Amino acid sequence: MAKIAPSILAADFGNLERDCKMVNASEADWFHIDIMDGVFVPNISYGMPVLKAIQTVAQKPLDVHLMIVDPDRYIDTFADLGASVLTVHYEACTHLHRTLQKIKSCGMLAGVALNPHTPVDVLEAIIQEVDLVCLMSVNPGFGGQSFIETTYEKTAALKALISKKGAKTQIEIDGGVTNQNAATLIQAGADVLVAGSHVFKAEDPPATIKTLKRF
Ligand code: DX5
Ligand code: ZN
Repeated sequence: MAKIAPSILAADFGNLERDCKMVNASEADWFHIDIMDGVFVPNISYGMPVLKAIQTVAQKPLDVHLMIVDPDRYIDTFADLGASVLTVHYEACTHLHRTLQKIKSCGMLAGVALNPHTPVDVLEAIIQEVDLVCLMSVNPGFGGQSFIETTYEKTAALKALISKKGAKTQIEIDGGVTNQNAATLIQAGADVLVAGSHVFKAEDPPATIKTLKRF
């Protein structure tokens, strides 16, 4: 059974407390928090004060996805804000090994996200140091985009790499996840499914989460 991480980017920010409480009461496992800086990606999402507000209500681990340049600047800050998983982009890190060590030294799980064009092989030399790989199944920056089908192959290739290296890395899929692709992703090796629009735009979000948990 995969973990489900509803993406708060798709929540109603005028009713953020209500939507966070819905996640608390649902079968979801983590809160997925998208931080965008308008430089690494062509959009700005929300920052520290909003994360603080989420953290005050959230009763499940915060899975923070940094879509920002030079993420090392904020690792301590996100640890202080209660992140359990901190994911940086491979494409945004010159010294990825150092960045991951720093995240772990702050007591968080260290994640690496790969853009759709980045092959999983780039992680061959470091996979044992990575707690979670987030495969982007859309181009990062916006919720509500269509799932990129080549993600199935990438998921299987990543799973093979993790097995070959004897690593314990979790595989997370982020972008365009729905009940149409969840089962195939899990079969290919996904451990965590992020879902934004599919959950929050649904008529019955807790039931939608429950359905995703059953795949
Ligand atoms: C995209 C974000 C995703 C996004 C997913 O840049 O990283 O987490 O919120 O939203 P949906 O599920 O709507 O594609
Ligand atoms: Zn994300």
